[in-house]
Amino acid sequence: MTIPSTSAAKPAVAIIGGGVVGLSIGWRLAQAGCAVDIYEKGTAGAGASRAAAGMLAAGVEAEPGEQSLLPLCRESQRRWPGFAAELEAASGMRVGLRQEGTLAVALTRDDVEHLRSTYEFQRGLGLELHWLHGAAVKEREPFLNPRTSAGVFSPADGQVDNRQVCAALILAFAKAGGRLHQRTGVQAVDIAAGRVRGVVVDGDLRPADAVVLAAGAWSRQIAGLPAGAMPPVRPVKGQMLSVRMDPANPLLRHVVWPPKCYLVPRLNGTLIVGATTEEKGWDESLTAGGVLALLEAAWRALPGIEELPIAEMWTGFRPGSRDDAPVLGPAPGVDGLVLATGHHRNGILLTPVTADSIAELVLTGRTADVIAGFGMGRFGGGG
Ligand code: FAD
Ligand code: GLY
Repeated sequence: MTIPSTSAAKPAVAIIGGGVVGLSIGWRLAQAGCAVDIYEKGTAGAGASRAAAGMLAAGVEAEPGEQSLLPLCRESQRRWPGFAAELEAASGMRVGLRQEGTLAVALTRDDVEHLRSTYEFQRGLGLELHWLHGAAVKEREPFLNPRTSAGVFSPADGQVDNRQVCAALILAFAKAGGRLHQRTGVQAVDIAAGRVRGVVVDGDLRPADAVVLAAGAWSRQIAGLPAGAMPPVRPVKGQMLSVRMDPANPLLRHVVWPPKCYLVPRLNGTLIVGATTEEKGWDESLTAGGVLALLEAAWRALPGIEELPIAEMWTGFRPGSRDDAPVLGPAPGVDGLVLATGHHRNGILLTPVTADSIAELVLTGRTADVIAGFGMGRFGGGG
């Protein structure tokens, strides 16, 4: 990919979408001296990046059929501590990185068999995981149901406070000289003679040497994209809720995955209960069935939850791609257009590796080895 710059040294870049993906790429490029404009149709960080649980779960979330995604997830997980430290220093904010490991737990005999088969599959991928008997699980998390009969401990899996990450990225991006335009939707990408010219906002061309499409689940809604550059991304709805624990005496200290839900304790006492996975298009309703299923699964694993006040309930749209892996790389047939979307269930985890690799691509034209298998080429002719 070639990206001519209009300024003396670095390309001017327009980024479509102010979620964790667009903000982190923008921060990296602004740090490198580029003139960067991020266009966000609503409020930055209020899309999937706000809805997420913030788990950095390369291990326990590894699923059959997603083996090729694992090296990317593990590499990004490895980069998180350095990324968080740098972001905290640049923004002056804490981002709540916690690395005490994650527990997947089983209650019934059926759950134990299922957990064992997942454990064997994940261990076969080379992941460090430890099988625990019920007593050892309850030693780590004493408020879990006394019937908890087994668990798997994943030391490498942790969490970050995704809402704090977005807020910190907004600050760090501005401090690095970037310009964030909120409530400013991009209508179209302007392309002439196979090269991007910029983006169209309010009917006007805003020129740029490079354009990064980071519009999450909305990435197909931008006009002007040729068919071969249209990422195969769709909204995958998730319902979530949170309850308030006593931060001085929390019911949980690790991220815990019981059957049919996950539980994510924050340092401030918030306990997140997630999440449904639904193919319902752009339906953003909270449903009785969705909330009931989450609360029931959480209550079975952690009976003490029934005393806790509900803090919040919400929905979000994961940007799901055809193979559940992100779409990262140059857009075929359009010089200067870069795709960074489709992060599905792992966008928070994949933030550091996405930001570094896409910034490198824009600055040098080189596709880093770690993202080489995640371009549009794998879909064989567009989405
Ligand atoms: P978004 O945050 O959705 O940002 C895209 C932005 O683009 C939006 O702000 C939108 O307004 C803007 N936009 C759209 N169209 C335009 C336009 N035309 N012009 C300008 N702006 C536009 N990931 C993890 O790693 N760990 C988790 O624990 C986790 N849990 C999750 C739980 C739920 C319920 C959900 C929904 C997701 C979860 N994810 C998790 C996934 C993660 O949230 C996403 O993969 C990630 O946030 C995607 O980031 P993004 O910046 O691409 O998308
Ligand atoms: N990664 C958790 C979720 O997408 O619900």
